[in-house]
Amino acid sequence: MTYDFRIEAADKPTLYCDLANALEGLVAGESDAVANMANAAAILWEYLPDLNWAGFYRMIGDELVLGPFMGKAACIRIPLGKGVCGAAAATGATQVVEDVHTFPGHIACDAASRSELVVPILAGGRVIAVIDLDSPTPARFDAEDAVGVEAIARMLSDRVNG
Ligand code: SME
Repeated sequence: MTYDFRIEAADKPTLYCDLANALEGLVAGESDAVANMANAAAILWEYLPDLNWAGFYRMIGDELVLGPFMGKAACIRIPLGKGVCGAAAATGATQVVEDVHTFPGHIACDAASRSELVVPILAGGRVIAVIDLDSPTPARFDAEDAVGVEAIARMLSDRVNG
């Protein structure tokens, strides 16, 4: 089976709306969390321009553990509160980092990364995972990216829990 998505890149809100719809269709009939995160990472990687990493970290106990992703091999475990991912998980708040070199405690998994967007996925009021996007371009992510990925995180929540 092949998947053919109609994803327009006219503007960011349209792009994220199309991405969310495509992803919703992909995960709707599947309850396996790893399969759904893997397909979501693939879709984000294919359709969002200018990324060098796209994927998930899952909250397991009191640390984040690497989940499905696209890009270079990455650090496996991130303590709560450490780096950009740990900050998103600890606060439950999206982190938009224009220049990773100025973020205290940034964890450099790929030296090419210059900017980063991390969005927590919440279920039952707690963080169950984060979506992490890295770019080699400084200030690649803005508020429209944050809003778009937050909508995807909300839509994925009950499909990546477990
Ligand atoms: N840069 C992240 C670590 C994960 S990698 O970017 C894939 C951080 O500071 O949390």
